[in-house]
Amino acid sequence: MNNVPQHIAIIMDGNGRWAKARHLPRLAGHREGANAVKRTIEAAAQQGIRFITLYAFSTENWSRPQDEINGLMDLLCKTLDSYTGEAQQKNYRLLVSGSRAKLPPTVLEKIDKAVQTTAQNTGLTVNLALNYGARQELVHAVNTLLAQGKSEISMDDISAHLYQPTVPDPELIIRTSGEERLSNFLLWQAAYSEFYFTPVLWPDFNAQELQKALDAYATRTRRFGGV
Ligand code: FPP
Repeated sequence: MNNVPQHIAIIMDGNGRWAKARHLPRLAGHREGANAVKRTIEAAAQQGIRFITLYAFSTENWSRPQDEINGLMDLLCKTLDSYTGEAQQKNYRLLVSGSRAKLPPTVLEKIDKAVQTTAQNTGLTVNLALNYGARQELVHAVNTLLAQGKSEISMDDISAHLYQPTVPDPELIIRTSGEERLSNFLLWQAAYSEFYFTPVLWPDFNAQELQKALDAYATRTRRFGGV
C-alpha cells in the first residue's frame, strides 16, 4: 500500500494507569510497556514503515520519584541487552534522540553499544527519544549554528542540526491513553504531521492497534497548506 507512512512517531502513554487498574506498581506497567515496544517495532517493520520514533523518556520525566526513574533506566538497559541481538538479526538500526546529560553511564554504554552494533543495518530505523525535549533540541540546533559563526539561520539549517538530521519528519504521530497533547515532542518535525489519538493504554498497544492508526492515516488527505 503506498499510503503507509515512511516515519511514525509514538507518545507511549498510560503505563501507570494500566498498572493502577491492576493494583500493580507503576513499574509493572513500564515492564508491560517494554513488551508493547517490541511488538510495535515488529508490526511496524512488517508494515514496511522505515522509521519509528518512540518517546521513551522526556526531559520532564526527571521530576518523577527517583525509584521510578531508576526502574525505567534499569528496564531500558535490560531491554537493550535482551533485544539488540534480535534487532541485529532482523536488520534494524537503532538511533537515539536526546541529551546525554544526566543519563547514567550504564545507560550511555548500552545505547552506544547498540547504536554501534546496528549502525550498518538497512531495515527499520528505531529512533529512541531518550532524555528528549523538543524545545531543548531547537535550542541545541541554534547554539550549534551560532558556534559555527552563523549570523542568519534558515529552516534547512535548523533541520540539519536536529539530534537526528537523517530521520525525515514523521507523517503520523500516535499518542495512546486518551491524552491529546504533544508534550514537548518533535515540535519542529510535526509541522505537517497527522495525529492519531487512541484511548488504548500503551501496554495494550499491539499490531491491531497500529493497523487502526494506519487505516485512519490512509483516509486523510494531506494538503500541506495547498488546496
Ligand atoms: C508513559 O506512561 C510512559 C513513560 C513515561 C515511559 C515510556 C517507557 C516505556 C514504554 C517502557 C520502557 C521503554 C523502552 C524503550 C524499553 P506514564 O507512566 O506516564 O503513564 P500514566 O500517564 O498512566 O501515569
